[in-house]
Amino acid sequence: MAVLAAAGCTGQVDERRAGAARQQVALKKKAVPKPLPPRRMDCAAVKCLALTFDDGPGEYTARVLDDLRKAGARATFYMLGQNVGSHPDVVRRMPLEGHEVANHSWSHADMTGLSSGAVRSEVRRTQEAIKRASGVAPTSFRPPYGSTDARVGKAVGMPQILWSVDSLDWLHRNVRKNVRAGVSEPEKGGVVLFHDIHKPTVTAVPEILAGLKKRGFTLVTVTELFQGQRLDPGGRYTELGEKGPTVAQ
Ligand code: NI
Repeated sequence: MAVLAAAGCTGQVDERRAGAARQQVALKKKAVPKPLPPRRMDCAAVKCLALTFDDGPGEYTARVLDDLRKAGARATFYMLGQNVGSHPDVVRRMPLEGHEVANHSWSHADMTGLSSGAVRSEVRRTQEAIKRASGVAPTSFRPPYGSTDARVGKAVGMPQILWSVDSLDWLHRNVRKNVRAGVSEPEKGGVVLFHDIHKPTVTAVPEILAGLKKRGFTLVTVTELFQGQRLDPGGRYTELGEKGPTVAQ
């Protein structure tokens, strides 16, 4: 009888252990966060706008992510490969919160002054750094200073996304001017250029988000904005126009 009881007891313990192990496996599976995929947007009908933040990640980028989350807005971050290693956690957050990681070269050099091999290296190293930090590889490139040409485009091998609204935040470094530009200048289908490395820009973000919402904009990523549109590798685009992507002049 005692033997039987002991055997029964052991069996229960084994079962409990197996249950706990199963639960742990389930928890582990659940604990691996997945990037939020791009939403299906009909930006011909919806008043879409893509906010983009360049030259980071930096010390203020996490604050931008917090503010975007509070506002339920998505954005695209054109990052420098050389900055990614100092802020891997921030880069990791981006796709998990629905934002788009994008390539702005490694060193912010003027690509037209580099050899094609050097351009390819700038792009590739940045792709690798962002992929390593976030698990996601960028699908678009923004040339530093907007400076590019056909040869650079070919070496880049990805669509090059410029902008339709330049906030000039890097020049003014002024919260009020950032808010004014960020809220009043954008039009449907636009791409707005900001820099998340400047404090007055980051300070302006909550007010810009509120103002754009009031104007009826849905804030989308670059991929969401151009969804269903044909973007050629090396092509240069500034916004989503009435007839599709607008090619830069
Ligand atoms: Ni830049």
